[in-house]
Amino acid sequence: MQNTVTKEELNHAREQAESARYARCIKASKKVRWDIDADVIRGRDFDFEQAFLPEGLSKVDELPFLAQTERRRLSHVQGRTYAYIFGLVERFIGAKVLELSGQHWLGDQVALEALVRFSDEELKHQELFRRIENMLGAGMPQGYSKVADPNEVARAVLGKSTWSVLALTCHIELFTQLHYQQSIEPQQALSPLWKDVFMFHWMEEAQHAILDELEWKRENARLTMRQKEQAVDDLIELVGAVDGILQSQAAADADYFIATADRRYTGDEQADLRALLLRAYRWQYIVSGVQHPHFGRLLTSMTTEAQMQRIQSALAPIVNG
Ligand SMILES: [Fe+2]
Ligand SMILES: [Fe+2]
Repeated sequence: MQNTVTKEELNHAREQAESARYARCIKASKKVRWDIDADVIRGRDFDFEQAFLPEGLSKVDELPFLAQTERRRLSHVQGRTYAYIFGLVERFIGAKVLELSGQHWLGDQVALEALVRFSDEELKHQELFRRIENMLGAGMPQGYSKVADPNEVARAVLGKSTWSVLALTCHIELFTQLHYQQSIEPQQALSPLWKDVFMFHWMEEAQHAILDELEWKRENARLTMRQKEQAVDDLIELVGAVDGILQSQAAADADYFIATADRRYTGDEQADLRALLLRAYRWQYIVSGVQHPHFGRLLTSMTTEAQMQRIQSALAPIVNG
């Protein structure tokens, strides 16, 4: 008798394997689950004698005219923006995940549970970032400003195709892990509370990146080539919109840093500060994710060569900027 595998059997095996991945995310999510006060903050406050954002992300060591105390202050400004930007993107990520969970309501209940936990965690993360942002604000001079409103950004992002939102989300949740593992964890002289915030965040984000990938691949399988073309255009637009926010926030943070400094900076120094902040923010929120090997593999596997080239040429001014 010939041993043939039917299409149904193959599909069933694929669904089983997917369900097992969702199940592993639930298990890991339960294992690492933390509480904002009991585990992360633990009654502590930020020590402004220590740096917040590490140099691998802040790039503050690239400006030789900054004294140690000035570098530290620039890491405080960037560390505050880091919490703000995460809170901002998590507004659309949480909403998208809740929307996607609808595809599983009457289907795989394991996948549904994984996505419900995912969105619940993003709500908690947003609360954590609001909390620490207030604490950071209390210890810093007046005048800091946030350039974009999370709901307005989310409204614009959620108007784009699901494929593009999942691509952007997967990229964010992969670079979150990279930042912690490569830059935050290895740097010794950082505020312990600031470091803990992003350690606990990273622990839950590891599951999110796997879920993004599962959902992104599912969505990818549903699209026609024409829809994919549109999705690639959407992704390019989304990255452009992120870059627009980064340009404005970098300018606002440079103004704030210069206005609240203990000394006057020359015109050249001010220009260097502005360029550094934009370079650092592009590195943090776009380039480090785009260059993430796993993200590259996923994107390449879901696009044609021509689509990949289109994405790369759109990104070139940001990556090489
Ligand atoms: Fe998060
Ligand atoms: Fe996340």
